[in-house]
This record gives sequence, structure tokens and C-alpha cells, in this order.
Amino acid sequence: MSEFNLGVTCDMHVHVRDGEMCELVTPTIREGGVSVAYIMPNLQPPITTLDRVVAYKQTLEKLAPQTTFLMSFYLSKDLSPQLIHQAASQNAIHGVKCYPAGVTTNSSAGVDPNDFSDFYPIFQAMQEENLVLNLHGEKPSVGEEGNDIHVLNAEESFLPALKKLHTDFPNLKIILEHCTTEAAVNTIIEINRGVSKPQDVKVAATLTAHHLYLTIDDWAGNPINFCKPVAKLPRDKRALIAAATSGKPYFFFGSDSAPHPLQNKSRHIGVCAGVYTQSLAIPYLAQIFESHNALEKLRGFVSDFGLSFYGIEITKIKNADEAILYSRKQVVPDSITDGKGIVVAPFMPKEELNWSVKW
Ligand code: NCD
Ligand code: DOR
Ligand code: ZN
Ligand code: ZN
Repeated sequence: MSEFNLGVTCDMHVHVRDGEMCELVTPTIREGGVSVAYIMPNLQPPITTLDRVVAYKQTLEKLAPQTTFLMSFYLSKDLSPQLIHQAASQNAIHGVKCYPAGVTTNSSAGVDPNDFSDFYPIFQAMQEENLVLNLHGEKPSVGEEGNDIHVLNAEESFLPALKKLHTDFPNLKIILEHCTTEAAVNTIIEINRGVSKPQDVKVAATLTAHHLYLTIDDWAGNPINFCKPVAKLPRDKRALIAAATSGKPYFFFGSDSAPHPLQNKSRHIGVCAGVYTQSLAIPYLAQIFESHNALEKLRGFVSDFGLSFYGIEITKIKNADEAILYSRKQVVPDSITDGKGIVVAPFMPKEELNWSVKW
């Protein structure tokens, strides 16, 4: 069979920025085969108010009228339980993203992952409202004697904090975003032991497309492939692919497509972390699923499981188009540009992909 109905495709972790970059990349969500996008709030300054999240959504809807946008707040001291209740009652957000301070792009306003207790009143309000807590699960790097944290163990070192949060808020929906290690995959499986129905999942993980392709060797020396969390070892990659193709409802797609202007990727100091995959998101995934004889598992991963976890009823959203995957080869372009100065380098330039998407 050379056509697959993928359902209402969701990318549950998207960076579309603001300004000119936003104008360039927002329409590429649909080009990449995605109907519903969960939007990250790490703008400069981060999104922490109702007015801004509503205005941001309107901007995105103008740029891409056929795409459905699910919005989020950035966890910080600027939030309050009252604001969470208010935002939930207006359906303005579906979740709150937590960035440990200092680990990645625009995360300086983030939180100390060694101590979440200041935010427990916020988590309590989120649990009551059934909002999702999106975790960037990395400990910040430190070089203390006997306590080294670095990019390779930063995610694994975060896992005890994830387990503690789940213990303290057993009904709070939590996502370990863009997970990159076998250890993280195993932790998510362990937490879900005994969970059989998709609607009972409380702790899930998103997986990106690029982490199903990359290992350390691919970004050491190529800043286009450098992102946070960094891609890890071959055994980690194998665990991620096994999770993505497992059909388990607590693993679903979040591309973490994170565009940066090419000049911020091609400099020798301060290379920005982020891989841009948006404009071919579903074809990148289909390629991997095909090579593991798992194309029939793709629909759950890109559609059903994410919708179920977020509690999205497709009859209640404005744009819920179904994506059809079909067999047609295409070559990844070298760059995408607005012709006015912004250039973004996509993942896997010049490589051939076997699949395309139509609506
Ligand atoms: C980008 C920038 O400001 O150039 N970030 C960064 O350098 N850390 C822009 C962005 O990530 O939004
Ligand atoms: O590589 C990344 N880039 N990881 C993140 O968590 C943030 C993102 C970005 O915003 O650029
Ligand atoms: Zn992140
Ligand atoms: Zn991200």
C-alpha cells in the first residue's frame, strides 16, 4: 500500500518565534504535514500573560489560517494560580512549559530544577484545570567534585526530579519533552506500568524526528545538527526509535523544530541550539518508520496519542484536516528563505526522502 491516512496530525512541540522568522516558518507547519501545533512560549521576553498569549495566537492564525494552534505559558515567577485558572477558563492555553534556567535558547528566565517547590501552587492549579506541564528535562551543567553534570548526562540526571513531580502530583499531566536517552524511555515505560488505556496516561514523552536520526558524531562538527538536549549514543537512538514505533500511547510526536538564522548557526562562538525540521516533519518520520517496517504505527504516534493525552476533541477544533501520506520522493532543500535576509538551514540538506503529504 502506498497511501496512509495519518488522521489529524499533531506536532506537540513547535517553535515558531516572532517577527520575520515567524512569518517565514509558521506556514511551513502545514507544508510539513501537520494539522495541529503546540506552540512553545520561549519568546524574548517569554510569554507569561493572557494578553500576549491571545495576541500571539491571533498572529499565528493570520499567518496560517488552516492550522490549529495550541498555546502555552512559560513557567516563571510571573505566573500565579489565579492566572492559571483564568487562562484555563478561557481556553487560552493547554499547558505550561518549564525550562531549567540556563540550559537552552532563551531559558535565562527559567526555574531551578533542583527545587520546584516555589511552583507547587502553580502545579496544583494546573492539576485542577487538567493542563499539561511540559518539561525540558535537563539539569544545568556544573563541574562540582563528584557531581559533574554535562550535556551527555543532563537528561538522565533530571529523571529523579520527574519521578518526584509525578509522586507529588499524581494527577498532573506531565510530558518529558524531546527525550533523547534510553534511560528516559525506560523511566517513562516504568511510570506507565499498569496503565492500559490511552486516557489513563499521566506521564508521557515527546520524541523529535531528528533524534531518531542523530547521534553524537552527527553534531560534533556540524552545528546544523546541534540542539538541546544533544543527540546521544547509538543505543539511545535505538531506544528512541523503538519507543516511537512501539504503538505505546505515552510516546508521541513533538518535533522541537527550532529555527535559527543561519548566521547564528555558522559562527565559532555561541552557536544556537536547535534543528529546523518543520517543513518536512512528517516525511522525515515516515522515512524512519518505513525503514523499521512500522509505517502502520505512524498514525498513533503523530495523531491519536497526542490528541488523547491533551484531551483534544477533534470535533471541537476549527481546523482538523487529515493528512494523507503517499509515496513520492522529494529532496530536502539546502535552505529556506523569505528572500529578505532570513535564511534557515533545514535538517538533512540535499537528501532524498521517499514520502510526501497531501490533504
Ligand atoms: C536566537 C537569537 O536571539 O539569535 N537565540 C539565541 O541566540 N539563543 C533567537 C531565538 O532563539 O529565538
Ligand atoms: O535545541 C533547542 N532549541 N532546544 C530547546 O529546548 C530550545 C530550542 C530553541 O528554542 O531554539
Ligand atoms: Zn526544550
Ligand atoms: Zn523546544
